[in-house]
Amino acid sequence: MSSVKSFGEPAIIYILSNARSLYSTRRFFEEGIKRGHKVKVFPPVALTLSIERNACRVYFQKQILPRPDIIIPRVGQRNSGYTMAVIKQFEMMNVITLNSTQAIAKSRNKLRSLQILAQNNIPVPRTFFIDNISEIDIAIEGVGGAPVIIKLTEGTQGMGVMLAETARSARSILESLISQGQNVLIQEFIGESTGRDLRAIVLNNKVVASMQRMSIGDEFRSNVHRGGSHHDTRLSIESEKLSRLAAKILGLSFAGVDLIESKRGPLILEVNPSPGIEGIEGSTGTNIAQQCIMALEKEFRLRPKNLDQKKLS
Ligand SMILES: Nc1ncnc2c1ncn2[C@@H]1O[C@H](COP(=O)(O)OP(=O)(O)O)[C@@H](O)[C@H]1O
Ligand SMILES: [Mg+2]
Repeated sequence: MSSVKSFGEPAIIYILSNARSLYSTRRFFEEGIKRGHKVKVFPPVALTLSIERNACRVYFQKQILPRPDIIIPRVGQRNSGYTMAVIKQFEMMNVITLNSTQAIAKSRNKLRSLQILAQNNIPVPRTFFIDNISEIDIAIEGVGGAPVIIKLTEGTQGMGVMLAETARSARSILESLISQGQNVLIQEFIGESTGRDLRAIVLNNKVVASMQRMSIGDEFRSNVHRGGSHHDTRLSIESEKLSRLAAKILGLSFAGVDLIESKRGPLILEVNPSPGIEGIEGSTGTNIAQQCIMALEKEFRLRPKNLDQKKLS
């Protein structure tokens, strides 16, 4: 292919995704191929990891996989622990990754990420974390009373986020979740947002696309997966700054930042390390997959060669 040369040296890119047919996975694949790279999709669960002194390898169907130059990790809800181990393995092989294991782990946990963001002076909704049903009333009162939001610490796509209209329903939901050993957050309900929130895509410390999402009917969650509608919007200077800072503090090169407008200004709801790009590419017309590939390509070209196996202390 003559067009390949114009993009510079081709890289070997592995997309790590357990859902190969998903829009986002397909888009990263397409854009990688378009720019002349050798791209493959591997479901992390199909890979085997071997760990030895100075020799970390990845097997696929009994064969050692050639070391890629770049990985694009997509960490979904299922098998996330194994996926994280796979990303770490490639990191140990000094492979460039769209996001690091450490940053993904921090952001995936809603409690951990809120702690880190709040500690760094980022405004977040008032949140309580308890592990004992005798503390339920203190938490409900602490976030300003009902209605309250109850969140599982590792939910995504709106699943695991509940609205309890009364203190009584909050109590019964919390009792049942805590007694099952679930980790739950109790959060102030930002009612003034009326089902609207913002999603910003940050790439290398820049907001490359942003949209407003709106929930439908009596649903309060605006996630695209919960049927929310979305349209292109420009962020205020403050929201843009907060989005960039939130991704930076968590160490994410690529992130989907959720913000909600409250009476006291924009608050960060969460930072997603593997944001879906279907809704936002569609509503903003921005080629996010291509921008990610180009950013990774740049890093690949600048990277010194002969660093096959990174020594970790
Ligand atoms: N404290 C809150 N007040 C009002 N609405 C909220 C609050 N937290 C979450 N939501 C709504 O629920 C949606 C999902 O919450 P989020 O924390 O982003 O979890 P998920 O990982 O499931 O997307 C948000 O996009 C927003 O519409
Ligand atoms: Mg969200």
